[in-house]
Amino acid sequence: MLEQITSIKEDTLEAIAGIGDLKALDDIRVGALGKKGAITGFMKQLGGLDPDERREVGQELNRIKDAVQAAIDTRKSELEWAALNERLETERVDVSLPPRPETQGSIHPVSQVMDEIMAIFCEMDFAIAEGPDIEDDWLNFGALNIPDEHPARQEHDTFYLPSSGEGGRPVLRTHTSPVQIRHMMKSEPPIRIIAPGRTYRSDSDMTHTPMFHQVEGLVIDETAHLGHLKGCLRDFVEAFFQVDNVPMRFRPSYFPFTAPSMEVDIGCSFEGGELKIGAGDDWLEILGSGMVHPNVLRNGGIDPDRYQGFAFGMGIDRIAMLKYGIPDLRSFFDADLRWLRHYGFRALDLPTLHGGLAR
Ligand code: PHE
Repeated sequence: MLEQITSIKEDTLEAIAGIGDLKALDDIRVGALGKKGAITGFMKQLGGLDPDERREVGQELNRIKDAVQAAIDTRKSELEWAALNERLETERVDVSLPPRPETQGSIHPVSQVMDEIMAIFCEMDFAIAEGPDIEDDWLNFGALNIPDEHPARQEHDTFYLPSSGEGGRPVLRTHTSPVQIRHMMKSEPPIRIIAPGRTYRSDSDMTHTPMFHQVEGLVIDETAHLGHLKGCLRDFVEAFFQVDNVPMRFRPSYFPFTAPSMEVDIGCSFEGGELKIGAGDDWLEILGSGMVHPNVLRNGGIDPDRYQGFAFGMGIDRIAMLKYGIPDLRSFFDADLRWLRHYGFRALDLPTLHGGLAR
């Protein structure tokens, strides 16, 4: 029996040394040490031997078992190393290669201006909120105090989507104002948010594209008033355009979801075809705003007898054109690389109030 065992040991160790892959190595392990393996088989026969022989054969079997297991472990780690080295070799990245020129991207002016807007308002303790591009009719209009037959619905040149049968009719949101309602419904005052994002209206010329960007602002607490709204917008405009004492004009206006409502213009000049913010006697409209209408608060689940606040909505592409002197809005969305190279921003220059907001 000992002879048989020794020859099995030799065969097994030889096989292990010659094996080239992990699967085959495991087959050998099962063949020798598994439940039905050769060495296990001898172990089972020990009971039939007389005591002396049993001890001798038993000890030898244990030694062989340990030797085979050790050989398997060693071979296994050799094979694993070899596999790892092979992978490292084939997946090698040459870090000394210079980047390919065509992979150099730049930040689109709209993204840059969104980052600038967020940097400024976050410094003023606003949080960022978001809503979906596809809204239902109720959130985009009804909840904002724009009933079914209201003329404002036509003014918005809405893109309607096919109805799914349940809930309101889906629309591409025509403004970021539905985020006001969404946010009110899920939170308690005090509320202090801005909501930047894409908006859609069926309109296209030098200053309109069917998809454009807005940022909504909403502040609700027990005391927020028109003076706060004006101060907040002034601080924003001065930080954004980096000019002190920008002339601002607050014109009475009308929005169904605010009362009173104001449109805000900033003073500028167009001398020699160049637009300058903060000087001269021309005016440019940049946003709509007002005190949130009690019906809107109610629709957002907020008690208008206790809370009040203000909201504003600003065209992001618009103020990007003003700040960076970009003449045609449509060019924003042409995906023309030459345009992007000219007006784009360096990818790692994140705008902050302390680090600077412009190029
Ligand atoms: N939603 C309005 C628009 O798109 C702007 C606005 C927002 C006005 C909030 C007042 C308050 O024109």
